[in-house]
Amino acid sequence: VAITNPFIESKLKSPEEVALALPQNVTLGCSGFTPAGYPKLIPLAFAKRIESEKKAGKDFSINLYSGASTGDELDGALARSGALKLRIPYQSNSYLRNLINEGKVDFIDMHLSHVVKYIEHGILPAIDVAIVEAVDVTSDGRIYLTTSSGMSATYLLHAKDVYVELTDVHPQELKGYHDIYLPSHHSQGLPIPILSPQDRIGTEYVQINPDKIKGIVRSGVPDSSSEFKAPDAESIGIADHVLSFIQDEIKKGRIPKDYLPFQNGVGNIANAVLASMAKNDEFHAIQMYTEVVQDSVFDLIDAGKLKFASTSALTFSKEGLKRFHQNISEWKSKFVIRPQEISNHPEVIRRMGLIAMNTALEVDIYGNVNSTHVMGTSMMNGIGGSGDFTRNSHLSIFMTPSLAKDGNISAIVPFVSHLDHNEHSTMIIVTEQGLADLRGCPPKKRAELIISKCAHPMYRDRLFEYFETSKRLSKGKHTPHHLEDSLSWHIRFLKTGSMK
Ligand code: COA
Repeated sequence: VAITNPFIESKLKSPEEVALALPQNVTLGCSGFTPAGYPKLIPLAFAKRIESEKKAGKDFSINLYSGASTGDELDGALARSGALKLRIPYQSNSYLRNLINEGKVDFIDMHLSHVVKYIEHGILPAIDVAIVEAVDVTSDGRIYLTTSSGMSATYLLHAKDVYVELTDVHPQELKGYHDIYLPSHHSQGLPIPILSPQDRIGTEYVQINPDKIKGIVRSGVPDSSSEFKAPDAESIGIADHVLSFIQDEIKKGRIPKDYLPFQNGVGNIANAVLASMAKNDEFHAIQMYTEVVQDSVFDLIDAGKLKFASTSALTFSKEGLKRFHQNISEWKSKFVIRPQEISNHPEVIRRMGLIAMNTALEVDIYGNVNSTHVMGTSMMNGIGGSGDFTRNSHLSIFMTPSLAKDGNISAIVPFVSHLDHNEHSTMIIVTEQGLADLRGCPPKKRAELIISKCAHPMYRDRLFEYFETSKRLSKGKHTPHHLEDSLSWHIRFLKTGSMK
């Protein structure tokens, strides 16, 4: 049954009415995180309005801010409208990605934990309009968000005008999952009082001035969700290496027997690690302090191995969402959804000592990691939270299959073509071939480990060859490189379609 109250009724509008009220030049702050809980009907209607009014010669210009990636109804529709000029801080929409890589849309690829400050300090163009998805709105301005928190609280507080897509896709029991807390509004320089993943320190809603709410649109449209794929052989191989490494760290007394909280990135490999933990008898229940929870969490729940998960979004497939809804009351004790400034906050990550597991596109022989740029110049998705977690966790693990594009690309390269996570922050590199523990190793030792343990046999000898030539010819012998040759693998791929 659709939620209602006199305030909601007094604000109801159609998506087209809201679209007509939006300025031609506008900075939009939208809900949505990887890609849960983003508005759909208003951006679709806005894109339609832009399309028809552009024919009449009107110009539009949109800056779009979100938490992280959103669905096609927002990123895709506004990108296709031709009006999108600036996007922050993360995206994964193929149409938008192409525009970014054609140089037609500016994209600022940011650490997710930094976005709040950039907005509050006016470093980026100010938010004109916030559009958020919610399950309830009260007459005194409480907004109950849906399956993501992301940047929503900050955008709601800073926008001049607020529009809400009030969805009935989720039951009202979703209220209570959120813990809204922004350090700038609460702690005034004092520590953020989170000592373990389940600590709640804020409110279940975002409180704003109700006068700012200019319209509420009813929606019954679910998030576009990607289906959950079963882990492939490479991912299972990577997961096996990661799990035995963690067991070994416990034996050495570097990780307590009941573990440290885990952060787990997005995608196939990240899911495979959780699936393997669920299956592996040596693994017992874990806690997560992460930014996205996906379907793989159900494997842990089914195996009785999830104590608690703190996240900034619950991103489930269609089937996963059904399961979530069936258990929504019971699982309130298992999850909390936090603003991304808190889920990714260096202070909290360091205090709790997380085990961070993220995915690389490529890794070089010294342990520098590229997670964002294909062949050095084309944006994939963005750095997201991987930098927040990598730099500040107790253990930072980077995972990647050793090959991409049918073996035409080696994920282990002489020199990364773009740098996101440098050798000072990365600790453990894992491919299906093996695991390299780089901690405490000088550069040349790191190179030996990465090439021998992680590179695919198809490329291993050539990497050793590069390393030997570098040692011989490099002026500096600390981190030897043969600079003329260091990006030749990428250049070969661009010219011939293969690094072979
Ligand atoms: N060079 C060029 N392309 C490469 C590549 C390389 N070295 N390695 C992988 N790819 C391609 C794959 O072939 C695939 O291409 P396709 O989409 O055309 O099939 C694509 O990159 C994605 O690779 P996939 O193996 O499916 O990885 P994924 O879905 O696990 O994503 C990242 C990997 C790195 C793109 C993704 O994890 C990411 O965006 N990370 C940064 C953000 C992040 O880590 N956030 C923090 C935690 S949520």
